[in-house]
Amino acid sequence: MQLFLDTASIDEVRKAARLGVISGVTTNPTLLAKEGGVSYRQRVLEIAEVIDGPISVECVSRTADELVCEARELASWHPNVVVKIPIDDQGLEAIARCSREGIRVNTTLIFSPNQALLAALAGAAYLSPFVGRLDDVGHDGMELVRQCVAIVETHGLPARVLAASLRHPLHVTQAALAGAHIATIPPSVLWQMVKHPLTDVGIERFLADARVAGLIPSAD
Ligand code: E4P
Repeated sequence: MQLFLDTASIDEVRKAARLGVISGVTTNPTLLAKEGGVSYRQRVLEIAEVIDGPISVECVSRTADELVCEARELASWHPNVVVKIPIDDQGLEAIARCSREGIRVNTTLIFSPNQALLAALAGAAYLSPFVGRLDDVGHDGMELVRQCVAIVETHGLPARVLAASLRHPLHVTQAALAGAHIATIPPSVLWQMVKHPLTDVGIERFLADARVAGLIPSAD
């Protein structure tokens, strides 16, 4: 399993990259809008200097023809760009056409197993089921991740399931146990995952005992 960072903040990408566990980055217009007017291309190129892995960049066109043109443009920014295309009829056609051209697609805004199946059949490299947004409306978002994984594995489809819209550390554990190939997580969730209060207590106790044992100088 891999972890991607779900952010358009270059500072957050730099901080997280130091931990050595981030293999890619996902962005979307909402995340970019928080970045004070930076150009999308410039931000993607900055991220590419830090993370040597897939960077998902979202298309905003609404017809298949426009989506394909936009996807070509986004893909030309950097070899690591993966274009995000939302799944509807126009999006599905664009996914198929882009995939045939060798443009890697992350199908976004997946809310049903059939949408995932269609995107995989169209050649999408990544399927992004949106867990948190399903939870928000009273559905079991993680069940969709399990269904997507079962579909691609049962039928040997090459798409990878990228659990998205994850909101807290338990989501990441559940996505891992559900067999998601990738989880994309907000930076705050990454830092929450690292922490455990008993680890902090344990470190303090070992340090205190190390002083008593003369391994390190005493604090005073
Ligand atoms: C990632 O690809 C998605 O755009 C992101 O995870 C959506 O998260 P949200 O539902 O919290 O906005």
